[in-house]
Amino acid sequence: MVFCYFCRMKKNEIVLSGIRPTGNLHLGNYFGAVKNFVKMQETNECYFFIADYHSLTTHPHPDNLQGNVRQVLIEYLAAGLDPEKATLYLQSDIPETAELYLFLNMNAYLGELERVTTFKEKARKQPNNVNAGLLTYPTLMAADIIIQKADKVPVGKDQEQNLEMTRTYARRFNNMYGVEFFPIPTAFNFGEALVKIPGLDGSGKMGKSEGEANAIFLNDDPKVIRKKVMRAVTDSGPTEMNQEKPDPIQNLFTLLNVVSTPDVVEYFDDQYNKCTIRYGDLKKQLAEDIVAFTAPFTERIKELSADDDYILKVMNMGAEKARANAQKTLREVREIIGFRKIY
Ligand code: TRP
Repeated sequence: MVFCYFCRMKKNEIVLSGIRPTGNLHLGNYFGAVKNFVKMQETNECYFFIADYHSLTTHPHPDNLQGNVRQVLIEYLAAGLDPEKATLYLQSDIPETAELYLFLNMNAYLGELERVTTFKEKARKQPNNVNAGLLTYPTLMAADIIIQKADKVPVGKDQEQNLEMTRTYARRFNNMYGVEFFPIPTAFNFGEALVKIPGLDGSGKMGKSEGEANAIFLNDDPKVIRKKVMRAVTDSGPTEMNQEKPDPIQNLFTLLNVVSTPDVVEYFDDQYNKCTIRYGDLKKQLAEDIVAFTAPFTERIKELSADDDYILKVMNMGAEKARANAQKTLREVREIIGFRKIY
């Protein structure tokens, strides 16, 4: 058995993950997930898709659905996903997923679906639109995963319960029809390799729900980056030598750690420990290093945005591969259940 040097995952395992088509990529997404996707595509058979069907559970009338999906795809390509190495596609380009979703729904129970935390949260947020798609979000997610017979699903903590449901539905299908057909996928989080990127507001993690100013997007203009960093929360400075850094300050150092060189980090750390630090200087350096870090992404995003033919080609390539694989699964599923052969 050959294991990946970075993540100790078996090299023949199939990796799959879905990406919500909301908003632009920020540094938190990049260091928390995308960077690892980029590594995994080197060692494993990977499927990454944009979950546009799922977006209807919360946004039934999306405006500019195709524009949003395209932008997400462009940003992931700019961040290093390579259509020659991984299968990149749109969920809605694989309508076989909807058929598998229907089959899985026949063996999914109201009680278990109602207990899912993300369902309860969303139902609370949109009390006038507690639709059946929202309730069966986990069966659609299960269909996404098992239609490609994935083994490993890199997801954040918030998706672990949904993944547990996928395991339940895969097992239930196998038991119901007395087959060992679907692999039982496992959630994969990167452990050590996972860098949690803090926001600029002094508290928790970087995210767009915390407000625009809290997150730095790969596509942000240098002017915007400088402004956001200069406004980041700090305090009145250390009063004792070598004192522990409070969260807002530690956050700036965490950011510095991922974008600056070790000697820069060491310099400011030293200044902090000696109580001679000037936050203004730290922020200026941090802003310039973020600008330098994001510049190649911004450039690539611009190039890709101008290349309609290439983007279309990427979408078609991914759809073709993912769909062929999905049809193979569905052909077998229909046979297992007892339907006529149509694929
Ligand atoms: N539910 C995931 C999220 O909110 C997106 C998603 C949809 C997904 N289908 C998936 C993730 C399949 C992993 C595998 O982020």
